[in-house]
Amino acid sequence: MFNKDVYTGRRAALKKELKSGIAFFPANNEAPFNYPDNTYIYRQDSNFSYFFGLNHPDLVGVIDFETGEEILFGQEVTVDDVIWCGPLPSLKEQGEMTGITDCRDFNKFGDFIQDAIAKGRKVHFLPTYRGDTCIQCANWLNTTPAGVKQYVSLDLIKAIIKLREVKSPLEIAEMERAANTAYYMHTTAMKMCKPGMVEQEIAGVVEGLSLSGGGPVSFPVILSVNGQTLHNHGHHNVLKEGRMMVCDAGAETEHYYASDFTRTTPVGGKFNQRQREIYEIVLKANMEVAAQTRPYMPYMVMHTLACRNLIEGLKGVGLMKGDTEEALMAGAHYLFMPHGLGHMLGMDVHDMEGLGETYVGYDEITPRSKQEGFSCLRCGKTLKPGFVVTDEPGIYFIPTLIDLWKAQGKHKDFINYDKLETYKDFGGIRIEDDLLITEDGCRILGRPIPKTVEEVEDMCAQGREWIKMPGLY
Ligand code: GLY
Ligand code: MN
Repeated sequence: MFNKDVYTGRRAALKKELKSGIAFFPANNEAPFNYPDNTYIYRQDSNFSYFFGLNHPDLVGVIDFETGEEILFGQEVTVDDVIWCGPLPSLKEQGEMTGITDCRDFNKFGDFIQDAIAKGRKVHFLPTYRGDTCIQCANWLNTTPAGVKQYVSLDLIKAIIKLREVKSPLEIAEMERAANTAYYMHTTAMKMCKPGMVEQEIAGVVEGLSLSGGGPVSFPVILSVNGQTLHNHGHHNVLKEGRMMVCDAGAETEHYYASDFTRTTPVGGKFNQRQREIYEIVLKANMEVAAQTRPYMPYMVMHTLACRNLIEGLKGVGLMKGDTEEALMAGAHYLFMPHGLGHMLGMDVHDMEGLGETYVGYDEITPRSKQEGFSCLRCGKTLKPGFVVTDEPGIYFIPTLIDLWKAQGKHKDFINYDKLETYKDFGGIRIEDDLLITEDGCRILGRPIPKTVEEVEDMCAQGREWIKMPGLY
């Protein structure tokens, strides 16, 4: 974990935002994989980690906004813990690591919070996203799992978003590290993108490189020649010439800071004419966003810019038609990009989405749109220096959606359905970078991952024959 001053500073900043009541933050529990002692790699809750840093289960952090008190509830280390896990810090030492002197028995937390409720104190609590945490909190709060929601505090949610949305230099350095790991993940995937490879062979190496970089992937690897399926976690296809491989993958650091990049690579390392035409449209949208994104601009403006670019480009290859602005306002581009330009990035790959996507992505100046083609944007709010957002336009040819819209005659003045029929075997293209908002613009985090047609083809050319595990594929 970071130095304890980081955590005392963050808690002090939270105390400036809230003046009454008491907040509690439960650590994540171990999550069993197939029996209790065989658990998934431990992942601390991001909010607990942000304010307390400790990387263990069976902890609850408490902040009293009226007295300023901070309490850490936790378990003492047992001999069994030491036998199986090695020497571990005592509860008092854990308190010292996060700058808290008042450490109490974990089993007393229920009585503590019941006492606060009985005294009529306001209890601030965040939405839960794991069933076990929800049940645990229901027991502490003497309510049902459904009843836990009544303690969810919008004031606490908004205060935390205000703190976590602006990344400090320490956090930016972490995210830079995660982005640099992603460089190796993506360039290796490009080098492996050869006919005959099975997607899983590449996805496994990509995931392993993240672990070698210090942490697991920041979300399950999306790697497929069926890039038209936005979140494709099936990895069983054999790569064939004429297809493209979408690889959407990022790393997490040991402090849980994430990267999230996407590259699209032609199988065999050379784009054909049709692939190149569509790729250049997506690339232009991605690069114009990176060139124009700056603070104090709503990211919705950049989403609109990207969609306008896609429409212009698709008109250029005869897949769309009509007036660009009219097509844009009607949301006709949604057929080709049924997702938003990007999302906030931080300790969570979709940062703080567990607190509520609209609270994180929108503000009073920019409310969420209800219009198709715009409502799908996860982050449309005004950018500030220190924000990190993704820039991830794409063009996808989704046969089911094409058939549906065509049958409805939807936006037929803007879409050339006859030509589109010939693209149903194309797949999809997405290009994604992580943008740090600076004082006067933005910059892409990490070592630049090849992105232009020439850069991607050059990286592919550095590939070699990969040794396949005998008998597996
Ligand atoms: N990279 C996964 C996502 O943004 O949803
Ligand atoms: Mn993303």
